[in-house]
Amino acid sequence: MAERSHAVASLPGDGIGPEVVAEARKAVDAAAARFGFRVDWVDYDLGADRYLRTGEVLPDTVLKELGEVDAILLGAVGRPDVPPGLLERGLLLKLRFELDLYINLRPVRLYPGAPSVLAGKGPEDVDMLVVRENTEGPYVGAGGTAHRGSPAEIATETALNSRAGVERCVRYAAAKAAERDGRLTLVHKTNVLTHSGDLWMRTAREVADHAGVRLDYCHVDAACLYMINDPRRFDVIVTDNLFGDILTDVGAAIAGGLGTAASANLNPGASGSGSAGGSAGGPGPSLFEPVHGSAPDIAGTGRASPIAAVLSAGLMLDHLGERQAAAALERAVIAVLPGAAGYSTQEIGDQIAVAVPRVASA
Ligand code: IPM
Ligand code: MN
Repeated sequence: MAERSHAVASLPGDGIGPEVVAEARKAVDAAAARFGFRVDWVDYDLGADRYLRTGEVLPDTVLKELGEVDAILLGAVGRPDVPPGLLERGLLLKLRFELDLYINLRPVRLYPGAPSVLAGKGPEDVDMLVVRENTEGPYVGAGGTAHRGSPAEIATETALNSRAGVERCVRYAAAKAAERDGRLTLVHKTNVLTHSGDLWMRTAREVADHAGVRLDYCHVDAACLYMINDPRRFDVIVTDNLFGDILTDVGAAIAGGLGTAASANLNPGASGSGSAGGSAGGPGPSLFEPVHGSAPDIAGTGRASPIAAVLSAGLMLDHLGERQAAAALERAVIAVLPGAAGYSTQEIGDQIAVAVPRVASA
């Protein structure tokens, strides 16, 4: 029987991106060896260096190639010597939009042994899943500037919310809630954003009813407060693009810090498709990345934690249908995390890779 294989594009990017992606790849390769599949890594040098050398951010030919792999693993983009937003919009957001990665899935889970910033709260209190809409809201770039530089200058930034876009996002979240404990919380700002809030609210009610899950609602400002002083209130949260961006940084803070926060940019239709990715006419690859940025201040020092990248790679393996391997990566992280402080990026990566086969057979 032919060995299962997955073609994964590796986009380490900038700053600490290459360091953490190297360790995530080690962990994935260890899991692949243990569970009898192969990952064919395809390297891409997109990011600040390539932009400064060639002026290219994401050439169309590369975008087309990326549409044909099974998954994409990304480190981080952005560096102080490139104008802010250029790589973020031109590379990361472009991939999210062009590949229609309409779910940004961000688990907020405090692992045993990870430091908690919340006094008196432990792993049993912080375990939620944020489903962030990933292709609409204020991120779409709809807007403009008039009379730039004059006292009469005006800037608009319009948030787009389509029924179809909101509905597919809430449907995904409701399905996740049904798999967990049947609770879904919509986070929005319906008391001020009455137009989009109404659309989100009606859609969420209908979808939750249909899926048989209980729907709660929380304004986004209150949600920031409750995540900190009463995190048990939440299990699955569904929210718009910008609220989700902000809320998941709060989530990272209460779940051991940015060093452990993972994310999956999904087109869920592709789930478990193995090597039958975009080229076969399916929805194409999904993209996996740590929530943290490129952290140029610590790049090259060995101080970056590779754990967020490893956990993101775990989400990737799960999406590719390698459920056991994904679970083993997570268990390896749980095994290594309590003693990880003080070790370098590479040392933590080595410990995880060594732990993978051990926890897999345990
Ligand atoms: C994130 C990041 C991005 C976002 C930036 C880099 C465009 O903050 O993934 O949370 O705002 O979505
Ligand atoms: Mn963010």
